[in-house]
Amino acid sequence: MSETTDPRPAGQPDEPTVAEPEVRVDAHGAQLAAEPSAPPAEEMSRRAAFGAAGVAGACLLGGASVYPVVRYLTSAAETAAAESAETEVTIEGALEMAPNTAKMFKFGGRPGILIRQPDGSFVALSAVCTHLNCTVGFEPDKERIYCTCHGGVYDPATGKNVSGPPPAPLTRYNVVVTDQEVTVSRV
Ligand code: FES
Repeated sequence: MSETTDPRPAGQPDEPTVAEPEVRVDAHGAQLAAEPSAPPAEEMSRRAAFGAAGVAGACLLGGASVYPVVRYLTSAAETAAAESAETEVTIEGALEMAPNTAKMFKFGGRPGILIRQPDGSFVALSAVCTHLNCTVGFEPDKERIYCTCHGGVYDPATGKNVSGPPPAPLTRYNVVVTDQEVTVSRV
């Protein structure tokens, strides 16, 4: 019985076997250049997966950035449509208002303010500040329309901008008073 001797020191692990590249020769025995090897199927499927994920991500990002713009434009269009669709509004309880008081109302989706003047007449104005669109309010003790955002002041009898940053008067509306009701419409 013959023993085979392993030249490596005891305990050294076997070296991993590396597949020898296949050498191809032509009919005359000359060595041919190795063909470029195709990527393994596993790598191909990984590449395809990364590609698909990239396209999906791009679609999601694109959709995410487009949606707010579309929504904003749609909202602006809806608001404009609502504003133009409503041409007049009846103010509930206006005839019972005491002099030097005010009542807020909605007109075309935006706030308005009806002010009963000290002489009993009515003035209707947009309540949207002409500075940066805050909603203004009436201060009866100071007999002024005031915007708390930046201290803008308007005249309650005319809507004229009196002091502070507002660059223009409040939009004024028509007011029609009958025995039954008070109606506000666009000028
Ligand atoms: S928004 Fe009214 S004063 Fe600035």
